[in-house]
Amino acid sequence: MTQDELKEQVAAYALRYIPQNAVLGVGSGSTVVKFIEAIYKQGIEVKCAVSSSNKTTQLLQDIGIKVISPNESGCFDVYIDGADEVNDNFEMIKGGGACLTREKILASMAKQFVCIVDQSKLVTTLGKFPLPVEVIPMAREIVRSKLNALGGQAILRENCLTDNGCEILDVHNLHIDNAKELEATINQIPGVVTVGLFAQRGADIVLYATPQGVQIKQKM
Ligand code: 5RP
Repeated sequence: MTQDELKEQVAAYALRYIPQNAVLGVGSGSTVVKFIEAIYKQGIEVKCAVSSSNKTTQLLQDIGIKVISPNESGCFDVYIDGADEVNDNFEMIKGGGACLTREKILASMAKQFVCIVDQSKLVTTLGKFPLPVEVIPMAREIVRSKLNALGGQAILRENCLTDNGCEILDVHNLHIDNAKELEATINQIPGVVTVGLFAQRGADIVLYATPQGVQIKQKM
């Protein structure tokens, strides 16, 4: 099976986590695009949604789903999103699609975070995927030097402005042993908007697609 087919499989499986008659939180990325397509194809009813990116908002509206602001929704039951890496502790690297800040806001508001990935995203140690950090443009170089001092190589993502008008530094070659600690450390750097480590608030359920079917990992 191709990676695309695996993403389709896990996206379709995630439909059963959509709450009835309640707000749904929707992430961003190609797996989420397949999830939105699956909602449409299966005719699943979604009362309304909160969205983590302009692209996701557009896709949801295109299929007739009302999108409301998180200021209006307040906390909600379920957030469904992909990830770039997930470890055994349900900690993730996210932000490959540059939507990490809004994703982290929604994750913090959701009672349950359902992460949907193909099996290639499962890792024992986070950090092979370059860690995205959203930065205020005027602070880019000072943030870059501080990230480099932590042992990585921070590279500006070319031609990329986030939905918040900020830039992304991708930090290469980090070996992340303590994700919670590193998340707190990077968040403290003035000029950092968000780091793409989702450790303080990780996933509650990881659905991962394999050629043998979708497997479920659930926090005890
Ligand atoms: C976007 C994200 C995505 O969830 C992550 O990049 C995974 O994307 P894909 O489903 O395309 O593999 O964090 O900011």
